[in-house]
Amino acid sequence: MEKRLIWDIPTRLFHWLLVASIFGLYATAEWMDDAVQWHFYLGYFTLGLIIFRVIWGFVGPTYARFSHFVKGPGAVFSYMKTLGRKDSAPATGHNALGGYAVIIMLIMIGLQAVSGLFMTDDIYLDGPYRHLVDESVLDVMNTLHHRVFDVLLWVIGFHIAAIVFYAVFKKQKLVPPMIHGKKQTQASGIPSSKLLLALVIALIVGFGLYYAIEIAPPAPALEEFYY
Ligand code: HEM
Ligand code: HEM
Repeated sequence: MEKRLIWDIPTRLFHWLLVASIFGLYATAEWMDDAVQWHFYLGYFTLGLIIFRVIWGFVGPTYARFSHFVKGPGAVFSYMKTLGRKDSAPATGHNALGGYAVIIMLIMIGLQAVSGLFMTDDIYLDGPYRHLVDESVLDVMNTLHHRVFDVLLWVIGFHIAAIVFYAVFKKQKLVPPMIHGKKQTQASGIPSSKLLLALVIALIVGFGLYYAIEIAPPAPALEEFYY
């Protein structure tokens, strides 16, 4: 079996930037004083990462595509039957079960970032969409922003536990390929990371978000500053 490129550079960058961002978002919300503005900026960046990854899931290289790792229930159940076997063949991309964990994490982090746009720190700073909706919507967003993160922490814990399980029980090391991109496999590797396409998508997502957050939302009415 040869070592072949499986994880393209944008997918790997996405992953490690996401990990750093989630850590930073937690730190700026829970540990640091006066860091809410940084929490906002990191939240926008994370929203950008998620939008990028969703687009990449349709146009990126083979193993990054949703069509490659979102499988039907049949494939998931037959994969689950191999979970307890030490000698099961390693998956080349995400396995049939892990694929759903990826989707769940993307949806939850996306929800967390979108609900953040409607949040307030109750002192100085309002999310950019806060003044555009009524109290009932704000209530939902506020509840989502607090509750989704509690569940997300469990999902991340489970994700890391799964990585440890594969390393210890199945002797399959999944982390190095997420760093250097290569896996020992008989399946074909990807010919390139499609870096130019990734750059164009990242720029479009960046400008789109800047427009949606800084330019498009009308400024709050003046009286909102006083009452
Ligand atoms: C905030 C914490 C984390 C989040 C939100 C997270 C999220 C994700 C997501 C969304 C993917 C799918 C990647 C893609 O296809 O785009 C993924 C895959 C992966 N993550 Fe994480 N991750 C976290 C922490 C970690 C840590 C700490 C490690 C290493 C110890 C790790 C190792 C991996 C590996 C090895 C994969 C590929 C799994 C496979 O081969 O199918 N993750 N993670
Ligand atoms: C994926 C992105 C995000 C994550 C993971 C995240 C995470 C968190 C967490 C863990 C908290 C603390 C909740 C608690 O104490 O129960 C929080 C609070 C908060 N978040 Fe986010 N957030 C994200 C995006 C955003 C965005 C985009 C905004 C606004 C533009 C935002 C605004 C706020 C505000 C205003 C608070 C309350 C802070 C305070 O009361 O001091 N968040 N967030």
